[in-house]
Amino acid sequence: MKEQIQTIRKEMEEWLASEGKSETLTREKLFAYKMELLGKTGKISALSKGMRDVSSEDRPEIGKLLSELRRWAEENFETMEAALKKRELEQKYATERLDVTMPAKFTGTGSVHPVTLVREELIDIFSGMGFDVFEGPEIERDYYNFQALNIPADHPARDMQDTFFVTKEFLLRSQTSSGQIRVMENKRPPIKVLSPGRVYRSDSDATHSPMFHQMEGLVVDKNITLNDLKGLLDEFARRMFTSETKTRLRPSYFPFTEPSVEVDLSCSACGGKGCRICKGTGWIEVLGAGMVNRKVLENCGIDPDEYIGFAFGIGLERIAMIKYGINDIRLLFEGDVRFLKQFRN
Ligand code: DAH
Repeated sequence: MKEQIQTIRKEMEEWLASEGKSETLTREKLFAYKMELLGKTGKISALSKGMRDVSSEDRPEIGKLLSELRRWAEENFETMEAALKKRELEQKYATERLDVTMPAKFTGTGSVHPVTLVREELIDIFSGMGFDVFEGPEIERDYYNFQALNIPADHPARDMQDTFFVTKEFLLRSQTSSGQIRVMENKRPPIKVLSPGRVYRSDSDATHSPMFHQMEGLVVDKNITLNDLKGLLDEFARRMFTSETKTRLRPSYFPFTEPSVEVDLSCSACGGKGCRICKGTGWIEVLGAGMVNRKVLENCGIDPDEYIGFAFGIGLERIAMIKYGINDIRLLFEGDVRFLKQFRN
């Protein structure tokens, strides 16, 4: 028995010196050898079983040698396993290293949409003149989109805007003018507010889209005149286009303004001489405006004898098309990167 214990120990020492030090040692090999010694049917386990046949006087000594062998073997396996793990990890670090100095793959950056550019520029221009921004809901009540704006049911002016109704009472707002009412219901004059957002109409061709963007402007205070509106629009035209751009007001009709005007800008492409863009007239129509109708003020609980105001509504796609020379509104909604990337700067 004693000799067997010594043989096993010697064998293992040799194994450790050769196999154990070898670069080719794997987990599998190590495990197999461990089983060969310490497994249920392994050599050391077999010796433990053989203890039965050892005489009682030799037993303490042999037992001690055997348990020493077992502990020694176990400790060695533990050290080996730890060393193997460390080596595997080092190999992984060496082979899976990331070279952070490699040139990056360029995936391209986005650009701000032209309608967003116009929206931001408008807000920038008008907020510089003291305007706040209010955004109303896109699903709107008939009351805010029409009735309170002096467009009762069955009024022919409803035909100007082919509206998407959700129910009898709710619709997809056809104009941001609804924002005027929502602001005036909640705030007393002086009021100076912009209301930008999406609007919807059942209309689709090269210059109309079923969803487009407007920016409403509203000013209510004492002693305001049409000339204040004109001055404000002059400033807007010069800032948005060129310092040479002029405005022209033409009489028009909107139920919520009285008097109402349509506003043209001198064509910045030809400087007003007449070209393809302005269809030879030298002027381009850009927005509707007017003095807020007394009835609209009354509907919002504002005394029209004390206060007066003006309002205007700008189509953002229209401004973008003029400013950037875009001839088809659908380009603004198709999301074609070849078109959109031209607006990166
Ligand atoms: N809401 C009108 C439209 O969508 C545009 C408009 C005209 C707005 C005159 C106004 C205004 O505030 O005063 O056609």
